[in-house]
Amino acid sequence: MTSNFHIFGNFKMHAAGRLLREYASLVGDTRLGLLVPHPYLSQAAHLFQDTHVVVGAQSVSGHAQGAHTGQVSVGMLQELGVGTVMIGHSEVRQQGGDFKAALALAQAAGLRVIYCIGEDISAYESGKRDDVLSAQLADLTTLDQVMVAYEPVWSIGTGVVASVDDINAAVSMIRQWLLENIPGNSGEATVLYGGSINENNCEAVADADINGFLMGGASLKPKVMLEVVKLCKQRSY
Ligand code: 13P
Repeated sequence: MTSNFHIFGNFKMHAAGRLLREYASLVGDTRLGLLVPHPYLSQAAHLFQDTHVVVGAQSVSGHAQGAHTGQVSVGMLQELGVGTVMIGHSEVRQQGGDFKAALALAQAAGLRVIYCIGEDISAYESGKRDDVLSAQLADLTTLDQVMVAYEPVWSIGTGVVASVDDINAAVSMIRQWLLENIPGNSGEATVLYGGSINENNCEAVADADINGFLMGGASLKPKVMLEVVKLCKQRSY
């Protein structure tokens, strides 16, 4: 547990117009982050410009520009004033993509990156978790402006939260890997946990060696999300 506790909501592909307005009417000076679908980024950036809400994108292309239909570039995010981007979410990994290239472009542009990693159920059950996590971490070359989000795929959207012991084992491996493989890392990496966090389990999970949460389903209910922030307030950044 740390005094700097970062809480992000990932709306995924849920309509966000009304949701964003509801957040705007409730947030006050609450500090949290919202990762919204690309079409709503402009609206969100405008709505929260004078607040402590950080607006981020859910993915970005590994190409700088060009003939890549349907993709969104780092430059486009910058043009909208969006300074945060999530890279490597498991639902994006399923579609493929060059996450190493996306990381390099986003970091070169000075964006804050939430880099998601996590093993699926078969890797978890066969004891291959660390192999999967190291392979995904290998796309990182620097920790500049990076938060790593550990999201076990088997916990995402399932209601099954990883135990504090499981989270601690994975996070300890992640911290050690970063220490050994990222030059200049002093061991202060920011690591979030994501997977079925809600207002009922957040306090127990916050006892793990993590620096915050990445929340999916619960972030679609602003009051629940704000309750989580309140419950973990003494840890909030
Ligand atoms: P849930 O909180 O719905 O399990 O989703 C987690 C997630 O994927 C956040 O990126």
